[in-house]
Amino acid sequence: MDISMQPDSSDYRPRQRTPDSLRVQRARQRWLLLGVAAWSLAGCERESVMTTLSDAPRHPPAISSASTQDAQGTEDLNPRLLRRFKPLTIEASSNVSLVHLGRMLYFEPLLSRTGKVSCNSRHPLTSYGTTATAVAVGIDGRRGARNAPSTFNAAGHFRQFWDGRAANLEEQAAGPIENPAVMGMTAEQVLKALRGVEGYRAAFAKAYPADKAALSFNHVTGAIATFERGLITPGRWDRYLLGDHSALSSRDKDGAKLFANLGCMVCHTGAYVGGSMFEKLGVQIPWPNQHDRGRAQVSQNAADAMVFKVPSLRNVAQTAPYFHDGSVAKLEAAVRLMAYHQLGVTLDSSEIQDIVAWLGALTGDIPREYIRRPNLPAAVRP
Ligand code: HEC
Repeated sequence: MDISMQPDSSDYRPRQRTPDSLRVQRARQRWLLLGVAAWSLAGCERESVMTTLSDAPRHPPAISSASTQDAQGTEDLNPRLLRRFKPLTIEASSNVSLVHLGRMLYFEPLLSRTGKVSCNSRHPLTSYGTTATAVAVGIDGRRGARNAPSTFNAAGHFRQFWDGRAANLEEQAAGPIENPAVMGMTAEQVLKALRGVEGYRAAFAKAYPADKAALSFNHVTGAIATFERGLITPGRWDRYLLGDHSALSSRDKDGAKLFANLGCMVCHTGAYVGGSMFEKLGVQIPWPNQHDRGRAQVSQNAADAMVFKVPSLRNVAQTAPYFHDGSVAKLEAAVRLMAYHQLGVTLDSSEIQDIVAWLGALTGDIPREYIRRPNLPAAVRP
C-alpha cells in the first residue's frame, strides 16, 4: 500500500474502488455509526470509534510499497489505536488436580457414544485447537453444520459457539457431548462411563475434595472448562503491545494500520481481536450463502438473520478454512471477502498482503507442556 498517496490516513480509501464509490462511502459511514452503537452495547470503553479512527496519524510518513521491508522510516501504531487492543492476560488455574482432570477429560474418547471421539479429535491442540475440515466431523463420521472454532483463547470470548448460544465454556462443553451428531451421550451415560473407571473416581475426588458427589456432570464440564482457560497463546502481537516495537515488521505494522483505518477493528477488537460482539455477516453486501441464519435460529428474531459472533482473529493464519460454513480456504480470500461484504471496499492485492502479514503476527505460541497428551486412566475401551 502506498500511504504517501493519502493526504490524511483517517480518511483512508483504497485505490481500487467499487464503481459507485460515493454510495460505498456513505454506506461505510452508516455502518461505522452502527459499529459505534454495537461498541457501546458491548460495554466497551465509551470513547467513540470515530474519534479513534480520526486519531490515526494525520500525515503518515511516505512509505512506498518498496520501502515497507525497510525498518527505516517505519512509524509505529498510534497509541490511541493500540488501546483498543490488549495483550492476553488470562492464566491457567493454579488448581493442579482440577486442571489435570480437565486435561484427561479433554482427551477422553469415553465421553462419546462410540468411544472414539474426544474434544481433542475436533479441536486438536497441536493444530491450534481446530481441524482443517470445513465442517466439524462427529461420531460415525457425521458432519456438523459449522466449522469448528479453536479452543485456544476461547475462554475470553463473551459467548461461545458461532451463534453465541452458550454463555460460557462450561455450557459449551455440555453441547457437543450431548449432541447426537457429535458425541451422542446423555449426562447419565457420561457419568456411568466415568464412574466405572477407578482412575476417574479418584481424580474427581481429588479435584473436588469438598464435594461428596464429586463425579457429577457439572464437574465434568467444569473441569474441561478450567483446563481450557489455560489454552492461551500470546505471541508477537502481545510482545508489541507490551512495548517491544521490534516484534512487528514494517509490513505487519502497515497491515495493522490498514486494519484499523478500514474499520475491521470496530468488530474485531480487544484482547482477542474479536470474540466480543455479534455482527451481521454481509453488513454492506449480502453474504452469498444465506442457508445458515446464525443467531436468528437461537433468538427466533428475524432481525438476527445472518448475525454471528465476530470471531477472534488470534491464530487465524493457522485455523483455515474460514467462516461459519468453512467455505473459504485461504486467508487472503477471507480478508478480501470481509472488506467487500462488511465494508463495501475492494482491496488490492498489496493491501491484502499487508493485512495478512499482520494477522500472521497474531499467531501465538502453543503452550506445549500444558497441552501434552496425558495418560488416561485404565478402562475397558472399545
Ligand atoms: C461489521 C463487523 C465486521 C467487520 C467490519 C469485519 N468483520 Fe471480519 N468477521 C465478522 C463476522 C461476523 C465474522 C464471522 C462471519 C461468519 O459467520 O462466518 C467475521 C469473520 C472474519 C474472518 C474469518 C475468521 C474465521 O476464523 O473464520 C476473518 C479472517 C475476518 N473476519 C477478517 C476481517 C478483516 C480483515 C476485516 C476488515 C477488512 C473485517 N474482518 C471486518 C465481522 C466483521
